[in-house]
Amino acid sequence: MLGKISKVTTHVLNEMKLKNEKIAMLTAYDYSIASLLDDANIDVVLVGDSASNVMAGHKTTLPITLNEMIYHASSVVRGVKRALVVVDLPFGTYQGNSKEALLSAIRIMKESGADAVKLEGGKEIIESVDRILTAGIPVMGHLGLTPQSIHKFGTYVVRATEKEEADKLIEDAKILEKAGCFAIVLEKIPAALGTEVANTVKIPVIGIGAGNGVDGQVLVLHDMLGITQKFSPRFLRRYNNLAEQIKFSVSAYINDVKSGSFPNEREQY
Ligand code: KIV
Repeated sequence: MLGKISKVTTHVLNEMKLKNEKIAMLTAYDYSIASLLDDANIDVVLVGDSASNVMAGHKTTLPITLNEMIYHASSVVRGVKRALVVVDLPFGTYQGNSKEALLSAIRIMKESGADAVKLEGGKEIIESVDRILTAGIPVMGHLGLTPQSIHKFGTYVVRATEKEEADKLIEDAKILEKAGCFAIVLEKIPAALGTEVANTVKIPVIGIGAGNGVDGQVLVLHDMLGITQKFSPRFLRRYNNLAEQIKFSVSAYINDVKSGSFPNEREQY
């Protein structure tokens, strides 16, 4: 076990991989929740573009804007002292050209105070990855099921089950490592492939539906706490049923207001 760390850095994550210590990562989008995750000693907080789904109610991650991501990221950064904070570059802010990608990454770093950015894709976005890294901004890759490409995939089924796609994924992981990415997220791929990638590259590989042979795990907080209810992929372990608890508490409050039992004498001036 690594000793008590005052701030998780990309180097700490590398050491964790070397020492076979698993990395725990969760999403957060606001100050209050981010402080709770940090207090609980989470290693990495991801300000995911899943905010588009769970915060804004969109069907996909595509609509969220750079300004909205910066708003979420700066709120999270204010709540975090220890964890590494990684922010997704949203759809349309890095695929066009590498100059635009760099400007987007710089805005995130300058305006939110985050520690790193995450981009979806491999070879096809490597110029953007290179240019952001050249500016000294740490980059996390994301391969496998990349939700920003959902309209190309047409479905959220498991990726890279066929050899051709699996070979490309391994090649992309090597390309991202060679470019200087500090870690890679692998989403919804066969467990054996996740293990193979984690054994092939030296940088940490963090899985979401990529099996137990990778170097760490990430989940969307709203899913693992049971706030979202309709989303139930096999890889999701629910640690709570907050939807029920919230509805129960809100019903109790409504009853107390309507019955006149809230506020009571001790709750007024
Ligand atoms: O946006 C997000 O929450 C993510 C995770 C699913 C890895 O990218």
